[in-house]
Amino acid sequence: MIYYSRVANPAFTDVRQKVDQLAQSAKSADQLMSGVVTLLHENLLKYNWVGFYMLEQKSEPMLVLGAFEGAMTPHTRIPLNQGICGAAASTGQTVVVDDVSADSRYLACSTETKSEIVVPIFVAGKVVGELDIDSHFPAAFTPEDRELVEYCASIVGKFIEKGGQ
Ligand code: SME
Repeated sequence: MIYYSRVANPAFTDVRQKVDQLAQSAKSADQLMSGVVTLLHENLLKYNWVGFYMLEQKSEPMLVLGAFEGAMTPHTRIPLNQGICGAAASTGQTVVVDDVSADSRYLACSTETKSEIVVPIFVAGKVVGELDIDSHFPAAFTPEDRELVEYCASIVGKFIEKGGQ
């Protein structure tokens, strides 16, 4: 009889440890988010575009592009009623799209993008931004990827909650 156990992918464990280290050494939330973007983009080969959008609370709430790695995107400001990004921020739920061409909400950033994950960032129970990742591979984001990206978003939320700017 063979028993299978759920063993964490060592690459993911390593990335989590490095995110923890970044959160300990970062002097600001911007520095932490830049570090997280670089770490994910460099270590996870299917993460072809990695970026943060932060919520600007003016008369019309807007997601504003922050730190990112990958090709420049035309979507530097996204209203909450548009895109996968708007859907994640307005519902406060992670959105995983295995095939962006089949999702009418999708705002195209690159013709090469096939799948996307967007994870909200919470501070004191409210959405303050999100971590958005695009892949050139279809269905790139497994449940394990989702856990990792949600972990990174939660670390940023906790950092800001503790008073990091
Ligand atoms: N695809 C996103 C827009 C942002 S770019 O992917 C960087 C969306 O549909 O909201």
